[in-house]
Amino acid sequence: NRARTPLIAGNWKMNLDHLQAVAFVQKLHWALKDAKHEDGSVEVAVFPPFTDIRSVQTLIDADKIPFALGAQDVSAHDSGAYTGEVSGAFLSKLDAKYVIIGHSERREYHAESDVVVAAKVQAALKHGLVPVICVGETAEDLEKFGASAVPAGQLEAALKGVPASADIVVAYEPVWAIGSGQAATPQQAQDVCAALRGVLAKTLDEDAAARTRILYGGSVKAANIASFMREPDVDGALVGGASLVVDDFAAIIRFEK
Ligand code: G3P
Repeated sequence: NRARTPLIAGNWKMNLDHLQAVAFVQKLHWALKDAKHEDGSVEVAVFPPFTDIRSVQTLIDADKIPFALGAQDVSAHDSGAYTGEVSGAFLSKLDAKYVIIGHSERREYHAESDVVVAAKVQAALKHGLVPVICVGETAEDLEKFGASAVPAGQLEAALKGVPASADIVVAYEPVWAIGSGQAATPQQAQDVCAALRGVLAKTLDEDAAARTRILYGGSVKAANIASFMREPDVDGALVGGASLVVDDFAAIIRFEK
């Protein structure tokens, strides 16, 4: 009875080569027989490394596997002399639906600023991809400014020039919770996700705020997913480590059971 279809997304980061990825998707699909995602009441998305996308797309297309496909990053440019970058045009041609933008690992290790993130959001939308805009505070930010200020500022910057009608997803990932085993509490996640929904209302409009999914990410596992999903402003999860283990990821997708 939710207004928004939950989205459970697996960000594989730099794990699983294309052969491992194909085997993983097959096993996950088998593990999920009869699960909710088959009737569309939960959306499942996987975000493999670029080199896997073609193979995974071929598999999900051939076997009619109901998983959406996404990339972990996209170039801000369409084509041209940008060695090492991947265009959103190429990703949509491979039937990618989503692209993660502004993950804290890219902000930190690749110096991606709010301006770069906003340009990538524009590129994603231009090529018909749904940007999964990642925001989140570091432990230091949390201490200095509280939980919401930094993620809210990052989201506002990422939404610059985005029309209210755009199809987007927001992921709140507190940096201190990523890969640390120490997830935010459901209440912490709810508070920030509610604040981010406020940013959507202010920057886009009320309808966009009501329809846009906001995910929580950071040490999500089978044991804590249900508690996050009970929060009214948490519409799903962006899962790292636990999305690399078939049984764990399947249990997260089956959070209602
Ligand atoms: O994008 C998902 C990620 O950053 C969370 O990672 O391993 O804490 O689930 P993890």
